[in-house]
Amino acid sequence: MSQSYEVIFENNRKWVESKIGENPSFFEDLAKTQTPDYLYIGCSDSRATAEELMGAKPGEVFVHRNIANLVNSLDMSATAVIEYAVQHLKVKHIIVCGHYNCGGVKAAMTPQDLGILNPWLRNIRDVYRIHQNELEAIEDEGKRYDRLVELNVLEQCINVIKMACVQERYILEEYPIVHGWVFDLRTGKIIDLEIDFEKVLKDIQKIYNLSEDTWVMSRKTE
Ligand code: CO
Repeated sequence: MSQSYEVIFENNRKWVESKIGENPSFFEDLAKTQTPDYLYIGCSDSRATAEELMGAKPGEVFVHRNIANLVNSLDMSATAVIEYAVQHLKVKHIIVCGHYNCGGVKAAMTPQDLGILNPWLRNIRDVYRIHQNELEAIEDEGKRYDRLVELNVLEQCINVIKMACVQERYILEEYPIVHGWVFDLRTGKIIDLEIDFEKVLKDIQKIYNLSEDTWVMSRKTE
């Protein structure tokens, strides 16, 4: 798997050539602007690439990645990405994509002191605590690990929906829609967890309502 550092520049040269070969103004067009429809929030894991697994081209997906695809309200990086994607790029879909065999999720299931990673992984331990009954009813450890990956995606979707910019934009424009996916490294397939966005939004607005235009929501659900 390992390759020399210089190979990357060689690959880049070939990539530039092939893009210009397909379309001589490719980079000229690319430099003009970006209008992606998707915000992808995924894990930093080197195997769970964002664009490649979706077959997406440059300009199509705005991307944020961190360990275990977490969305924490105190994380300025993730919240700034979401704010920018929703308010300025006006993305239509926000995808939180976890993956099976996630080292971050595994570490959170393991009792050990991991230094600076502790407060980060605590977010996943919190997901475990919220869903403790369901998780501990699963006897098979591998299946419990898979389920925690899925529940972590669900909770991070909820964290996205808690944000005022998401609630307000949705009420005005009926987008962005938030989706939860799991990338299965064992098959290469994306699994859509089919989160009922409207239902989650309605449920969490009982507590996390940050939009003044709630009447639209109540009218829409009549
Ligand atoms: Co991971």
